[in-house]
Amino acid sequence: MIKAFIFDLDGVIVDTAKYHFIAWRRMANAVGFDFSEAENEQLKGVSRVDSLNLILDWGGVEKTEAEKQALATQKNEWYREYILKMDASEILEGVLPFLDAVEQRGLKLAVGSSSKNATTILEQIGLKDRFEVIIDGNKLTRSKPDPQVFQLGAEAMGLQPAECVVFEDAEKGVDAALAGGFYAVGVGGDNLSHAHHVVPNFKGLSPDTILQALPAQAIQ
Ligand code: BG6
Ligand code: MG
Repeated sequence: MIKAFIFDLDGVIVDTAKYHFIAWRRMANAVGFDFSEAENEQLKGVSRVDSLNLILDWGGVEKTEAEKQALATQKNEWYREYILKMDASEILEGVLPFLDAVEQRGLKLAVGSSSKNATTILEQIGLKDRFEVIIDGNKLTRSKPDPQVFQLGAEAMGLQPAECVVFEDAEKGVDAALAGGFYAVGVGGDNLSHAHHVVPNFKGLSPDTILQALPAQAIQ
């Protein structure tokens, strides 16, 4: 029986992927190469350090650990310039009514994000207090597609994975949810067909539509 909905943040509640892309691209350009929006898709759900390593590989660039640390810090400073300007107007359409409906249905709400900036973003958009549990990148030792982020979220709510539905925009996020035994709903995005259900966005969506789309044992 489903008791909680766990939301990824970047790409599900807000479109911060565009800010990550601008900041990583600025870093890559400073190092002397560029990468594409298609390549950027592969960074969704991936931790900061793993993203940096992937990007440097694409550019064929080798750096020392100290240099990598400096690049990651610089990228994060550029990224934070964008997120510190965010407000509630950046919450994706349909998300607020959906959260209200989930709460009214008596289900718990949680966030499971790879980002160390997740709490800052939730504060900026005024949603920090809406979630019973927030697991962010500061609490993780393993990045999606490892299920650790969602396992910690379920544990903190005293629930089993099979009692939680995870909402994800990233292929690696859906992989993580499935690897942990969670129900997975893909939101927008490409390459999410392995999720139990896929929705384009939250516009007009009701929690019951989600629950009815899951395998029968999810609601028994
Ligand atoms: C994820 C994003 O939510 O957080 C990734 O999808 C990002 O693109 C990751 O790399 C880590 O974010 P941060 O804010 O800790 O650098
Ligand atoms: Mg995401």
